[in-house]
Amino acid sequence: MNQQIDHLLNEDRRFAPSSQFSQDAVAGPELYDEAQADRLEFWAKQSRDLLHWHTPFTNVLDWTSPPFAKWFDDGELNVAYNCLDRHVEAGLGDRVALHFEGEPGDTRTITYAELTDEVKRLANVLEGFGVGRGDRVAIYLPMIPEAIASLLAVARLGAVHSVVFGGFSADSLRSRIDDAGAKVVITADGGYRKGKASALKVNVDQALADRGDGEQLTVEKVLVVRRTEQEVDWDGERDVWWHDVVPQASGEHEAQAFPSENPLFILYTSGTTGKPKGILHTSGGYLTQAAYTHRNVFDLHPETDVYWCTADIGWVTGHTYATYGPLANGATQVLYEGTPEFPEPGRWWDIIEKYGVTIFYTAPTAVRSFMKQGRDIPLQRDLSSLRLLGSVGEPINPEAWMWFREVIGSGITPIVDTWWQTETGAIMISALPGVTETKPGSAQVPLPGISIDVVDEKGEPVGNDAGGMLVVTEPWPSMLRGIWGDPDRFVETYWKMFADKGFYFAGDGARRDEDGDIWLLGRVDDVMNVSGHRLSTAEIESALVAHEATAEAAVVGANDETTGQAVVAFVILKESFLKTHTAEGLAEALRQWVGTQIGPIARPRDVYIVGELPKTRSGKIMRRLLRDVAEGREVGDTQTLADTAVMSVITKQVR
Ligand code: WT7
Repeated sequence: MNQQIDHLLNEDRRFAPSSQFSQDAVAGPELYDEAQADRLEFWAKQSRDLLHWHTPFTNVLDWTSPPFAKWFDDGELNVAYNCLDRHVEAGLGDRVALHFEGEPGDTRTITYAELTDEVKRLANVLEGFGVGRGDRVAIYLPMIPEAIASLLAVARLGAVHSVVFGGFSADSLRSRIDDAGAKVVITADGGYRKGKASALKVNVDQALADRGDGEQLTVEKVLVVRRTEQEVDWDGERDVWWHDVVPQASGEHEAQAFPSENPLFILYTSGTTGKPKGILHTSGGYLTQAAYTHRNVFDLHPETDVYWCTADIGWVTGHTYATYGPLANGATQVLYEGTPEFPEPGRWWDIIEKYGVTIFYTAPTAVRSFMKQGRDIPLQRDLSSLRLLGSVGEPINPEAWMWFREVIGSGITPIVDTWWQTETGAIMISALPGVTETKPGSAQVPLPGISIDVVDEKGEPVGNDAGGMLVVTEPWPSMLRGIWGDPDRFVETYWKMFADKGFYFAGDGARRDEDGDIWLLGRVDDVMNVSGHRLSTAEIESALVAHEATAEAAVVGANDETTGQAVVAFVILKESFLKTHTAEGLAEALRQWVGTQIGPIARPRDVYIVGELPKTRSGKIMRRLLRDVAEGREVGDTQTLADTAVMSVITKQVR
């Protein structure tokens, strides 16, 4: 790792913004000074400027019982009103909110007036189902306009949404529904992916099936969007078609004001143990930072820009930068349902050309896979509308950064490499376009108002030109407010490591270069990052051992050219299975098994069948050594192993 970083730190390319860009830029260098002068007043000002408060706040931050923060505590607002009604009231009803592009090629243009109308009707329907303030609604939908409308309708009622990524299995959906105690599920018959109609309703049915374990189901209604027109089973008591109720519902719905700290959503993310954590976000602080970052980091000029964030609604990026941030700012955005390569590899570039996209926010894994396909594909399209590019989810290596700028950005667009997490709710580290001189591969500097440091084990700053752990040293508006139903785990996971300093530990290693710019070095815990999505080694291991053929399993994240990291599993099989099956057959069966247990993104790239796993004397699996094998390196120090010979056996078996 250090070698790799030394190499990166020799990166001496710099890209200053053009004077034209700086002149027109939304953000200016004074933001840093203002935030520096009075951080809380800075946030209060952002919040007042960017949002409409039904009841203005007087308290900015209550940090009297850390780590449980309250922002803008005595203020009241309605999140959906801020994203919809107020734009219509300001005369912007005819502005396009969404340019929707379905994977099969169907399109819909939805204005702010139309989206507001749809959300009001849907809010009335949900109210009719008994959904009110504080109730949880699970959303399991493809990337279609109804997904965005669903988030907003739930928010409008002061209820709490829990979006489950459409690629997750019925089991994953079930455990998330149970954990949150969801009353309603909003889903679709299916969605389009890679040219096929993939089913969603079937998974909901399976998730809600009685398992005979006495577990009481909390779900009362399932609202179903017709998207693919595939056949679905129907429970007449429980299931309701969207098209039977939403268009017929009243279009009158007044947005009520809710306290700033009213919960807005739960989003499950992987941690170091098997059970996903329900990250909780609330209203006023979250929306403030979502709007502020979206405006300043993406240099949003809402009258003229066409913004496109390619993230799925199932991830936090889809919440903050495909829903709340852009809509709060009155932006026009593209919403695309499908995969980049359907019906052919140039689909994304066609979309950019077609809608004249000006701001494009995507993930390094996508950039790297386009690099592999070659520059001819994007160069056949007119991408000249683009003026700003963004990257998120994992470190973007300088080579991919340069390709992104040269090929997609015509060699002139600034790139913002944005570091943040599900837990942080919004961007924390990024260049400010028009202000910062950008540097390929580095996320660079904390945003104005955000306090971040790189520290050693004792919490002492490591200074420039040194590595350590990334921490957030002061509370921020869009910070997570807890883990749903588990305050102890919240404290334990994020705040215990530097308890005496009161720092939030992000789980990432980082390094400051000699200019003080921050380089992210990946996770220091047992969490992997595959294509910008977090997966826990423990979660996949527990899926593997749940298979009848598995005796023991260890999972590591290995470097992968396209996906950043790839899941690699080492599995010990039960003897009895090896007598009746081939190792290759079982390895493939286990790959598929993980896909159905968790979802296709968790399916291991490689499953190695081994006889033993490297363990310390206390029985802890040494994943570091397995990572060496998975990445084809010389195996590191094995002295602390209970049996030092075991690694040479494993290495032989893998080869
Ligand atoms: C983890 C958070 C935040 C939206 C997508 C992922 C990694 C995220 C960057 C970046 C280097 C990054 C970190 C972080 N990460 N952005 N620009 N450079 N690493 O959200 O699933 O909560 O994952 O993604 O390791 O901890 P998430």
